[in-house]
Amino acid sequence: MCSPEHFAVEYAINPWMDVTAPVDAELAVKQWDRLRETLVGLGHEVHLLAPEPGLPDMVYAANGAFVVDGTAYGARFKHQQRAAEAAVHRTFYDSPDWRFIAPNETNEGEGDFAYLPEAHGGLILAGYGFRTELPAHAEAQEALGRPVVSLRLVDPRFYHLDVALASIDDGNIVYYPGAFSAATQKVLAQLFPDAIVADDDDALAFGLNLVSDGANVVLNSEATRLAGRLKAAGYTPVPVELAELKKGGGSVKCCIAELRH
Ligand code: ARG
Repeated sequence: MCSPEHFAVEYAINPWMDVTAPVDAELAVKQWDRLRETLVGLGHEVHLLAPEPGLPDMVYAANGAFVVDGTAYGARFKHQQRAAEAAVHRTFYDSPDWRFIAPNETNEGEGDFAYLPEAHGGLILAGYGFRTELPAHAEAQEALGRPVVSLRLVDPRFYHLDVALASIDDGNIVYYPGAFSAATQKVLAQLFPDAIVADDDDALAFGLNLVSDGANVVLNSEATRLAGRLKAAGYTPVPVELAELKKGGGSVKCCIAELRH
C-alpha cells in the first residue's frame, strides 16, 4: 500500500475524476489508514511504499505490478501522468524474495489482472479495452506461466478490470456483467457458473473493487446490497469508507497490491 499523502485530482484520466471538485488529502489519509488497520486487524501483513510528491495517483498501488508465484510482472502505464510510478514499484521487488520481469507492453498491473489459484488449476483473468493492451496479456502469460483469459471491458466507467470483477476466494469471482462485452459475459458465465453477480448500484458504488481472503471481504461501505449478497453466500463483509479516494476513480482494491509467493 502507499499513503495518499500527496493525493489530488490534478488531471482527469477516467470519468470519475473531476479536477474542479475539492479533494481533502488529510481525510483521504485518515480513511486509507482505517483500511490499512482493517487489513492488519484481519491478520494480514502490510508493506508500505513511500509516496512521492508529484505522483498524486500513487495511492492506487494495485497498478504498479502483478505478482504470481513470487514473480512480479511490472507495469507500464498508459498515461504519461502516471508513468513514473512504475519505477518506484520496481524498486520494491528488487530483493531476493521476488523475481521481477520488466514489461514491453502497456499494462496497469493488478488493476487489469486477477489471479485465481484454484480455478481451472490456476487462472489469470485480464482486462483490456481502456488501459492494459491486449499484447500485454500474452506477455503476462509468458512471464508468469499461467493461462491468461482476456476479458473485454466496454464501459468507460469501468476502465480497469478491478472495478468490475474480483476474486472472492481462490476459485470464484464476483462481477458486474454490464462492464463487459456480450461475448466476454458468455466466457465468464462458462468459466464461473457459481459466480456472484453484482447489480448496477453495487458496481457504481465501487463495490467490486474489493479484496477478499476467502472469508472476509473488505469492500466500500456504500456497496450495501453487495455486502448483503456476500453475507448470504457465507462470507463476512467488512465495510470501509473511502469516499475521498473515489474522487480519483478507485476504492479498496486499487489501494492494495497483493504479494503472492
Ligand atoms: N486515478 C487513477 C487512474 O485513473 C485511479 C486508478 C485506480 N486503480 C485501480 N486499480 N483501478 O489511473
